[in-house]
Amino acid sequence: MPRLAYRCAAGAQPTPENSVSYASETRRRRTFAIISHPDAGKTTLTEKLLLFSGAIQIAGAVKGRKASRHATSDWMEIEKQRGISVASSVMQMSYREHVINLLDTPGHKDFSEDTYRVLTAVDSALMVIDAANGVEAQTRRLIEVCRQRDTPIITFVNKMDREVRAPLDILDEVERELGMSCVPMTWPVGQGKRFGGIINLRTQSMTVFEAGSERRPQDFETIPLSETERLRARFGSEFDEAMESMELAVGASPAWDHAAFLAGKQTPVFFGSGVNNFGVMEVLDALVDLAPPPGPRLSSLLVNKQPVEKTVQPDDEGFSGVVFKVQANMDANHRDRIAFVRVASGRYTPGMKLKVQRTGKELRPTSVVTFMSQRREAVEEAYAGDIIGFTTHGGVQLGDTITDGANLQFTGLPFFAPEMFMTVVLKNPLRTKQLQQGLLQLGEEGAIQVFKPDMGGNMLLGAVGQLQFEVVQHRLATEYDCEVRLEGCPYTSARWISADSPQELREFEAAYPTRMAHDAAGALAYLCTSPYDVRLAQERFPKIHFHPLREHA
Ligand code: G4P
Repeated sequence: MPRLAYRCAAGAQPTPENSVSYASETRRRRTFAIISHPDAGKTTLTEKLLLFSGAIQIAGAVKGRKASRHATSDWMEIEKQRGISVASSVMQMSYREHVINLLDTPGHKDFSEDTYRVLTAVDSALMVIDAANGVEAQTRRLIEVCRQRDTPIITFVNKMDREVRAPLDILDEVERELGMSCVPMTWPVGQGKRFGGIINLRTQSMTVFEAGSERRPQDFETIPLSETERLRARFGSEFDEAMESMELAVGASPAWDHAAFLAGKQTPVFFGSGVNNFGVMEVLDALVDLAPPPGPRLSSLLVNKQPVEKTVQPDDEGFSGVVFKVQANMDANHRDRIAFVRVASGRYTPGMKLKVQRTGKELRPTSVVTFMSQRREAVEEAYAGDIIGFTTHGGVQLGDTITDGANLQFTGLPFFAPEMFMTVVLKNPLRTKQLQQGLLQLGEEGAIQVFKPDMGGNMLLGAVGQLQFEVVQHRLATEYDCEVRLEGCPYTSARWISADSPQELREFEAAYPTRMAHDAAGALAYLCTSPYDVRLAQERFPKIHFHPLREHA
């Protein structure tokens, strides 16, 4: 469908002035996620990016969640202070006339589902690698998701001030793991105690390393590469070796191709030391110069009850956005929740009338905020690429599309088939209503997946990581006053089910009545007790489709 049709459907008339300003506002936005294995230096780098863009004044202001290092009980404590993580999971900064939206991703693998969803809300990713450890397990999983979506990735190789691996080795590993060619943008001279600095390939100069976290980027000394003798005299064999390995790396990598980067086929690689403020400015500049502005997003439109695909352009007149994260608010006395919405098109202004596509109901937020590093502020306006938080008492769930009137639904927010299940047993049966409400809300938040067996019986909780169960049990007790016991159950996995005809679906349901369940969004699922279940059921019902992943539709 042409863009104009959507504009009219949204009820807004396109005006040339608006289109121009929407386009220019969109062009100056960069929305990216920062991904890494725990301890690689994500928190440190985030803080330095905020510091050098002027969003924060002093280092130490960003508290990393460091979930990886905490025992479960600590995680609960952190969850209780959710205000911190809400505020620090989305951060906006401005730099060189650009608006940069940084989205943090939870470090703990048990919350990887959350991370996958965050990755659907960004236009690029910044991957932080510990130069001693290379590409680690958690990063590998995240990269897979980026690759599925062809998300452009900028690579930062951190901790060059330590004894680490040879840069050529690291590039080789990144190339293999990412399946993308690496194009070095900076190159290290030495490492560890003999770390001399980085060569900037674009400016053909060397920035000299000095340890310490007080130094500002402009304070580092820069020497042109043309002053070879001076560099040699100062950095000795480290300099010659760096030049040699740099030449090898450049010879082995393709020429920089911006289109290949945008298509997720090349990654620019930067070296540095986050904790020493070194090599960070280069990354901030790369976000402005190389990372893409918000692009078009795929949605579907119901025309005569049939879904018709349509592409929403970021500078389309009508406002639209998608909920990629829902988080309970801090105040336990109120059932407030914040729906994080990635703006996909148009402009948000306060007082705007918005509706939730799934229910057709008007969205009446109690507040609408933007996330400024450490604090939330009332939104004055927001454009495609921005993240805004709607505080509501409910009525919004993960994957919901919010518009100012247009009839469209974004697709692509993934829910993964749980890999572990537990049955919920309520200790006090008089609290059944509260339990149902709690599970519904936690399910809508995506904290856990909730399945209601069609044949009745206890509710089932499905998770990707064990810690999810513990957090939910804790939250049911503290937020809903429901003490529950979680008991093992025979299910090991689930598949969402669809069929080409209602008749086929009915036959399948009749064949496996005890295995049928509906999830929080009302989608039908088949519960499995072993990996063979799906194969056997598939052989018996070849026309039934078994989905390991559900995309909100
Ligand atoms: P994360 O968010 O990815 O989990 O990592 P984080 O930034 O918390 O960094 C993990 C540890 O690595 C921290 O040390 C941090 O200071 C250190 N680090 C980060 N960047 C560099 C770097 O460029 N060089 C060196 N040598 N270390 C770096 P910690 O001792 O675990 O914590 P802290 O007490 O310093 O906060």
